[in-house]
Parts: sequence; C-alpha cells; structure tokens
Amino acid sequence: MRSIDAAAIGTLGIPRLLLMDHAGLALARAVRTLTSASPAPIAVCCGVGFNGGDGLAAARHLHEWGYPLRILVAGRADRLREEPAVYARILRGLGCALRECATAEEAAELGSWLADAGVIIDALLGIGAAGTVREPVASLIRRINGAGKPVVSADIPSGLDGDTGRIQGVAVRAAVTVTFGLPKRGCLIANGPAHVGELVIDPITIPSSLLVP
Ligand SMILES: NC(=O)c1ccc[n+]([C@@H]2O[C@H](COP(=O)([O-])OP(=O)(O)OC[C@H]3O[C@@H](n4cnc5c(N)ncnc54)[C@H](OP(=O)(O)O)[C@@H]3O)[C@@H](O)[C@H]2O)c1
Repeated sequence: MRSIDAAAIGTLGIPRLLLMDHAGLALARAVRTLTSASPAPIAVCCGVGFNGGDGLAAARHLHEWGYPLRILVAGRADRLREEPAVYARILRGLGCALRECATAEEAAELGSWLADAGVIIDALLGIGAAGTVREPVASLIRRINGAGKPVVSADIPSGLDGDTGRIQGVAVRAAVTVTFGLPKRGCLIANGPAHVGELVIDPITIPSSLLVP
C-alpha cells in the first residue's frame, strides 16, 4: 500500500488532501452505521501522522452531520503534518476544540472523557508506526480499550503491525476497521483477526488500476 500511495500521490498527482477527505468520509460513514444520531459525543483520537489526519477529516464530516465531538491529538497539535494541520485549522474555525494529550499522565486523566463517548474513532497509528508503541499512545490505547465503547479504527487498529499482525506492546480492539485501498496483511493474520472487528475496505478514490496486482 505504501508504494500504491506513492504512485497515486507522487506519480499521478492526486492530492493527499483529497484521499484524506475520502478516508475521513469512510470513517464517518462507519460511525453512522454504529449510531445514527448520537446524543453522546464521538471521541476522535488522532495521532500527528497521516493516520491522525484521516481522523480529523472524519471529524469534519461528523460535525457537519450534527454529531457532538470530542477531538484528541496524541502529542502537540503544532506537530501535525501539512494536510492534517489543514483539518485542525478547519475544525477550530468551526468551533471544534482539539484537546492535546502529550504524556502518559495526561492520558490517565482521559478515562471518563472516553467512557462518556458513544463511539470512539482510533486514528492514532496506521501503517507508518514502527516498533513497540510509545507513550502517550500506549496509555491512550489502554484507555480506549477500557472505555467499553465501540471503536472504529482507521486503516489498522493502532498497535497492530500492518505487515505481521503482531501486537506492538498494546493494540486497539476495534468493532470496525476501515482499511484504505487494500486490506493490510496484518489485519488478516496472527493477532489481526481478533483486533480488527468487521473489516471494511474503502478505495478512497485510489484508481482501481493501481489496486490490481
Ligand atoms: N489520506 C491519505 O492520503 C492517505 C493515503 C494513504 C494512507 N493514509 C493514512 O496514513 C497512514 C500512514 O501515515 P503515516 O505514514 O504518517 O504514518 P502513521 O501511521 O500516521 O504513523 C506515523 C506517526 O506515528 C508515530 N509513531 C511511529 N511509531 C510509533 C510508535 N511505535 N509509538 C508511538 N508513535 C509512533 C510517528 O511519530 P514519530 O515521527 O515521532 O516517530 C508519527 O507521528 C495510513 O495508515 C493511512 O491511515 C492516508
């Protein structure tokens, strides 16, 4: 998928923002299948990489559909990459606050913040993660799993290795995983099937000619 992403974005020139918006839309639709109109907020947990950008893009759609939101960034929001930062700016302009969580101690304060949510979006780590999950993401994953709420994961459950399906210390247990382009091998083998829940595959407008072997 990394080389397909590179071909779509680098070679064909499809703007990353466009793919991110479709990824966000696919996540928002998955939330809508779990709760059609939620009085409880949707908690959107975002990393500072592109996986987090997909979560922020989902937040924009959910806000438009009238869902109350709680948006979390694992780290300092000024570390967000270019396109995710665009969504952060849009969301703030729409009056949606972004809560930062940069340490394990700050993550420990989020128990009820997550438990009060109707659905949790996990957009902390995608296929760019490497090695054992570090703080504050590790503590956030434990809090997400402990909240007892349905979780929609972006691309792969955070903490699951996309290639091997092994848990990198700790991993989200999702109710639904919306995977972008093609399913990641790690979703299908080892610990993957026990963590992905229902697997939804969305092409996010990546041309089908790139998705066939
Ligand atoms: N919208 C699009 O255009 C598009 C297209 C395809 C895919 N995607 C999405 O983008 C994702 C890939 O994005 P990405 O390459 O930016 O990677 P990522 O999956 O978002 O992960 C990168 C981030 O995770 C952190 N990280 C890496 N290893 C970690 C660890 N062990 N513990 C804690 N944090 C860790 C990195 O921090 P450091 O930098 O500090 O290491 C970095 O902030 C895909 O899974 C998919 O969701 C988006």
